Amino acid sequence: MSEIEEIARQFQQKIDREMARVYSQKVLEHWHNPKNWGIMSDADGYGRVTGPCGDTMEISIKVRDNKIIKCTFDTDGCGITIVCGSIITELAMGRIIPEARVIDQKAILDYCGGLPDDNKHCALLAANTLQRAIDDYLENCKAPWKKLYRR
Ligand code: FES
Repeated sequence: MSEIEEIARQFQQKIDREMARVYSQKVLEHWHNPKNWGIMSDADGYGRVTGPCGDTMEISIKVRDNKIIKCTFDTDGCGITIVCGSIITELAMGRIIPEARVIDQKAILDYCGGLPDDNKHCALLAANTLQRAIDDYLENCKAPWKKLYRR
């Protein structure tokens, strides 16, 4: 290992130690390996929300027999926004719509063992975006032709 590689390795270890002091193991797992990233072009429901901080999240859901069988997200937000997007896709998948309806900020915080106060709004953004995607799905059920005009 070259001297520069060794310095980079030590620097990364220091960052990892600092992160572990602040965030739970569950947060670090999703930080290092975000799940279900992307936007589905054939989604049954789609939500896009910009939070007060200016970050935007998008969530798409695929639904069969009233159950969310696939859920993906995208965001231009910070690392913890990515973590919250990743977590909410896992929380939503496999749930019937009424169960997914109650996934809120608290559900994300409970699942990941909490977040620092400065990051809690990232969980709210993810929860609001999922609810927007569910709203869109329910609208599409009532008026399927509207889906044709979605961008
Ligand atoms: Fe804005 Fe995370 S910093 S949603």
